[in-house]
Amino acid sequence: MTNINAALSGQFSVGDIKVNRLGYGAMRIVGNGIWGQPNDKPEALRTLRRLPEIGVNFIDTADSYGPDISEELIRDALYPYDGLLIATKGGFVRHGENKWAPVGRPEYLRHAVLLSMRRLNVERIDLWQLHRIDPQVPQDEQFGVIAEMQKEGLIRHVGLSEVGVEQIEAARRFFQVVTVQNMFNLVTRKHEAVLDYCTEHGIGFIPWFPLGAGDLAKPGSFLDQLSKRTGYTPGQIALAWVLQRSPVMLPIPGTSKVKHLDENVAAASLKLTAEDFDELDRLGHEAPETPGPGA
Ligand SMILES: NC(=O)c1ccc[n+]([C@@H]2O[C@H](COP(=O)([O-])OP(=O)(O)OC[C@H]3O[C@@H](n4cnc5c(N)ncnc54)[C@H](OP(=O)(O)O)[C@@H]3O)[C@@H](O)[C@H]2O)c1
Repeated sequence: MTNINAALSGQFSVGDIKVNRLGYGAMRIVGNGIWGQPNDKPEALRTLRRLPEIGVNFIDTADSYGPDISEELIRDALYPYDGLLIATKGGFVRHGENKWAPVGRPEYLRHAVLLSMRRLNVERIDLWQLHRIDPQVPQDEQFGVIAEMQKEGLIRHVGLSEVGVEQIEAARRFFQVVTVQNMFNLVTRKHEAVLDYCTEHGIGFIPWFPLGAGDLAKPGSFLDQLSKRTGYTPGQIALAWVLQRSPVMLPIPGTSKVKHLDENVAAASLKLTAEDFDELDRLGHEAPETPGPGA
């Protein structure tokens, strides 16, 4: 495969840290159900070590992936992270395969940040994201402790996840929100208003589950024909569409395999024509949403 270079996706500044827009999500390097050790640990480590070789310098993880294991694998494969932005998340805990619960008590969020620092072996988290706002804890208390940790130097930049515009605006009274991570892909468009808000305010928008194309990829479809015409796979086209949708878009396709990683990053070299982009946009709006894979 030629032309595998994430730099072709363009650049974006996450606060004062410039990254190539096509990043990587490290939720998939752990076991099934985002639980436990990976089925193939050597391949998981190879996948991580491949990232800098192909220009991927923005890596997303969370303390709950494994739990702990995704951050530990990143440390084992990539420490001291030369030129890499390692973004992690906290505040959304795991009790077993595919089970998630928000915990936003301030003392717990502080605990989460300190333990992520220990696992990643850093003195400050470059981008720490509140994985979920806990509906059972006043949101100002959650934002307040994050602002405190930023002032103390434990966190360099702050992001949010699965939020609406009102929540972003409420958080911005406490700290600068540099990224928002919400589910978004060709056929999952419920966060268009948040994306437009982020575009307008220069906030990075991290679409999770970016490879989703639902039924749009079925044989004989427009996407299928476009794939044959361009030589790119439907997944690569879905990624190229996401990247072209906004200059603040920072997709983080996740995989546990070098082959799939190379394929995903090769999508950075695809530039859709305006006509193809618009037709995909129209079809994506009309298509039924695919259910999300978890968090
Ligand atoms: N903030 C949140 O609440 C939240 C929620 C979910 C995810 N995330 C983040 O977003 C990232 C991406 O989301 P996601 O993993 O759900 O969705 P995704 O990246 O769109 O899809 C990942 C899935 O597609 C497969 N895949 C990847 N590349 C492939 C390829 N080239 N060919 C065939 N299959 C391929 C992977 O399996 P293989 O391992 O077999 O390649 C995996 O099952 C996660 O890693 C995580 O960092 C955040």
